[in-house]
Amino acid sequence: MDSFYRPTRAEISLDALRRNLQAFRGAMPGRCRLMASVKANAYGHGAVEVAREAERFGVDYLGVAFLDEALQLRRAGIRTPILVLGFVAADALSVARDNDVTISLFRDDILAAAARLPEASGRKLKAHIKIDTGMGRLGVIGTDAAAAFIEKAFRVPQLEIEGLFTHYARADEADKSYTKLQYDRFRETIDCVERQGFKVPIVHAANSAAGIDTPEWAEGMLRLGISMYGLYPSAEVNAQRIELEPVMTLKTEVVMTKRAPKGWGISYGTRYFTADEERIGTLPIGYADGYSRMLTGKAYGLVRGVKMPIRGTICMDQCMIALDVDGTEGKPVEAGEEVVLIGRQGGAVITADELADQLGTINYEVTCMVAARVPRVYVKDGAIAAVSNPLA
Ligand SMILES: Cc1ncc(COP(=O)(O)O)c(C=O)c1O
Repeated sequence: MDSFYRPTRAEISLDALRRNLQAFRGAMPGRCRLMASVKANAYGHGAVEVAREAERFGVDYLGVAFLDEALQLRRAGIRTPILVLGFVAADALSVARDNDVTISLFRDDILAAAARLPEASGRKLKAHIKIDTGMGRLGVIGTDAAAAFIEKAFRVPQLEIEGLFTHYARADEADKSYTKLQYDRFRETIDCVERQGFKVPIVHAANSAAGIDTPEWAEGMLRLGISMYGLYPSAEVNAQRIELEPVMTLKTEVVMTKRAPKGWGISYGTRYFTADEERIGTLPIGYADGYSRMLTGKAYGLVRGVKMPIRGTICMDQCMIALDVDGTEGKPVEAGEEVVLIGRQGGAVITADELADQLGTINYEVTCMVAARVPRVYVKDGAIAAVSNPLA
């Protein structure tokens, strides 16, 4: 368990994570496999510990963005199959194979490089072929091109073609017509491959949004990302279908309090002046922690279960908060008291969605932004189960 000495931390509830995984397992069609997407440091939640919990839960696969993320998990002792959802370069193919990491395959030259891989005592490089059905990002476009690519791939003895997949661009929208179009294109490719006599064990298409709204278009595996972390992919998905619990709470403590006189400037640029005498607290968290400076003038923190505004410009390592919480006149908020910036405190809540709205982005980016220097404290059954602090 890593040590840490700052009051700012991201608490990660492994219990909530498990309940979210269970909710999807229960909701998906019986034979549908489950992949836990732990790319981008598990959407900011900490890749190794989230992968460990997902492994204990029994997910079928883990998803990462690039090979280094997969190798981090292998070094940590994770044994669950790992798919690199993004690009793996030709000179890294043997590293992927030797570490039992599955690659996504969609480029002819990478296929050719795989065919040149030296023998490795019968060990094969596992690959999932990526089809672009309308995301326009990675993948082979068009049924004929896909069928030809798959046929070539099956002829490469160094490869084990284990999967075939696509990715939806608009599954989080209420209007499902584009997702249906993508699903139909994907089905056409699957049918064509099957007619050619190729057997691909894992065919997969769905992200969280499709898992919630259109599980019938998931095919054989759900690639679960944002909703594993307890957040909905958008306000348009049917939240009634699956109940989720946010996994991350971002919290800190007041490290200094002051009674600022009326008209006192607060923080760089004195963008805030106290309207009256005002109790102000300093918090040891700033934009270098992922608490964006663009939240200046917009964000709130929870103090004694009350939503209080952040005052003045958010600095690199610190920011200020209003502390004149109603009803606490006789007992002012003191240094050492907890402040929640994302999550619950008492009956109050600040969601990642709320910060996303304030920033003009999506909840995915809010949790991904929480910087590496913020220690992750993993809570299980009400007790700290692990702490991860790369600075330790
Ligand atoms: C290829 C692929 N599959 C699945 C996911 C998981 O998506 P979500 O977080 O929306 O569930 C992602 C994430 O962006 C992805 O890139």
